[in-house]
Amino acid sequence: METHECKTTTAGHPAGVEILEQRMLVPNVNVLTVRAPAIARKIQPGQFIILRADERAERMPLTVSDWDREAGTVSCVFMQVGTSTQKLGVLEPGDRLPTFVGPLGHPLEMANFGTVVLTSGCYGIGALYPAARRLRELGNHVIGMVEARSNFLLYWVEKYRSVCNEVIISTFDGSKPGKKGEGPVHLSDLLATGRKIDRIIGVGCTFMMYETARSTRNSGVKTIVSLNPIMIDGTGMCGACRVVVGGETKFACVDGPDFDAHQIDWELLLSRRKPYMEAEAVSIENW
Ligand code: FES
Repeated sequence: METHECKTTTAGHPAGVEILEQRMLVPNVNVLTVRAPAIARKIQPGQFIILRADERAERMPLTVSDWDREAGTVSCVFMQVGTSTQKLGVLEPGDRLPTFVGPLGHPLEMANFGTVVLTSGCYGIGALYPAARRLRELGNHVIGMVEARSNFLLYWVEKYRSVCNEVIISTFDGSKPGKKGEGPVHLSDLLATGRKIDRIIGVGCTFMMYETARSTRNSGVKTIVSLNPIMIDGTGMCGACRVVVGGETKFACVDGPDFDAHQIDWELLLSRRKPYMEAEAVSIENW
């Protein structure tokens, strides 16, 4: 794990990590690229970093969406939903992040499984892209299922087409040529055709991953999801990211973030996010 976390440097250089690019992909979803060569050298699909937008911001985990090992850059797609992500969203190239720590968590298991379905929505479209690329390199038949509420919220579809064997697009309102409705529903339909699927990986909001787990539970296909509980230290010390998987307590930051979707206590996971909603609303208003 590399950490870029200091206020000053002994050599007098500016501290923290430099933002190289900040770009809105679709409304409320940005891609942020920073210079972080030590992390770029080691990062693997599925791993994440923890950053702070400024000295007073909370620590926030983001799955890494792309990297360039030679250029030493790391990119993360994030959704602006709370105060911290909105603070991050207004930063510009040249601004510096006081904290940028990683790679954290275990990499996603990568192998030649056969046919792999990747199902993603919102920030998960970006988060799953490196996995799609690597799984294809390993010889898998990769089916990328990308969902959004409407066509103007879809992004990186061409990037997916460049690394997937098939791309299935769905929009909740049917505004895109493709399928109408939520991704997990189309996943159920795909499984119902009897087509041989060897692994399913889902990344998106907690509810979307819960629905993915429900859609695949009876199919017998191993389904992996990347959990995104609240995190603080990211090193297994604070307990904030506690989840229950297979009846055992796990910490998403060090034991995950990827887990067997059919073993997760979803009720507990969903309920542990609720207590902070009111505080988050106050925080945004104050900011
Ligand atoms: Fe603290 Fe995982 S974030 S234990």
